[in-house]
Formats: sequence, structure tokens, C-alpha cells
Amino acid sequence: LPVVVLISGSGSNLQTFIDGQASGELPIEIKAVISNKADAFGLERARKAGIPARVLSHRDFEDRAGYDRALAELIDGYAPGLLVLAGFMRILSDAFVAHYEGRLINIHPSLLPDFRGLHTHERALESGVQVHGCSVHFVIPELDAGPLIVQAEVPVQPEDTPETLAKRVQVQEHRIYPLAVRWLAEGRVCMRDGRTWMDGQPL
Ligand code: GRF
Repeated sequence: LPVVVLISGSGSNLQTFIDGQASGELPIEIKAVISNKADAFGLERARKAGIPARVLSHRDFEDRAGYDRALAELIDGYAPGLLVLAGFMRILSDAFVAHYEGRLINIHPSLLPDFRGLHTHERALESGVQVHGCSVHFVIPELDAGPLIVQAEVPVQPEDTPETLAKRVQVQEHRIYPLAVRWLAEGRVCMRDGRTWMDGQPL
């Protein structure tokens, strides 16, 4: 499956896809990694793996619509069957999301529908929940509200700080995100009628 990955930062999730492709565990071909930030470390990871690493800075555009149009044009040059958001820290316009409907996924560091948006680990600790985690979901126009594909739970420890909690959540991200990508690549998971279907059954 041809895949394009969008990042803004470290790219540790991206690395799991690179490794999965290399080992043959993931039946994907990462066609390009695109970042809105030139200094994103994930670009280095891509280059090291021989994957085209592209930068499209939002600072070069007047508005979101213009940026998203240019981004879609860049992406579509690689003809991806799946577009993966992996720490891409920008909100995408409705038109962009509609263009990739059903082939656009994201990972969010909370047990959705809890803690949509930013600073999820801080907010989880403040709220006193005992279980936190991460979610992979299809992207729809409403932020962090798309149909879920897979989630992993992470118990909160009394001594947790946002940093220690984030670290343990990331271990789970690195497990469930490649899993979701594999299911998509194998055609086991899809989005239909606004829901996630797995092995022919609605989740
Ligand atoms: C992850 O925590 C992800 O949940 C969030 O951004 C972070 C990206 O980390 N959306 P990395 O760039 O994959 O290391």
C-alpha cells in the first residue's frame, strides 16, 4: 500500500512504520514524509531510510485554505492509498479532510472521546483519571472525533508527571499505530457510513 506520512516533530511513530516496512511486517511503501517544519527530526529518519523527505512550511502561505491546497497537491503527487498523521501539529481544513475521506488516519494521545485537543497528559493528571492511553482513528472534519480503529490503555501512577505518563503512552502508540496501519494495508479495516468496519463487521 502506498503511504504518505505527515509529521511536525520527532517522528518516533514514523520510525515504527519505517521499521515495519523494512522488516516486511507492514505491507506498505512509504512514498514520502512531509513536514510543515524544516527542523523536524522525523525528516532525518526518512532520509536515513532513503524515503523522500519534503518540507512545506505553513509560513509561506497566507491562509489555511492555501496551505492545505498546496499540501494536497504535494501529497497527491505520490498517489497514496493511505495518509498517516503522525504528530502533524496542524488542524486540517474540511476540504482537505473530505479529499482523503476513509484513507486519512491519526493517533491521539488519550482515550478518546476523553481529552480531545492539546495537553492531554496534563489534563488527564489534573482530572484524576486512573486510566489514560492513546487512540488511532479515522479523521473527519470535527477535531479528534473520527471513528476509532484501536485504543490502548495506560494505568496512571500516583507519582506520574506529564512527562512520565507521556513516555508510557508513547510505548503503546508505537504498538497500536503500526497495528492499525497493517489492518488498513491488509484491507481488514475501512471506514463506511461514518463508522469503522473490521473484518466486515461494524466496530
Ligand atoms: C504523539 O504523542 C502523538 O500522539 C501526538 O504527537 C506525538 C508525535 O510523536 N499526536 P512522534 O513525532 O511520533 O514522536
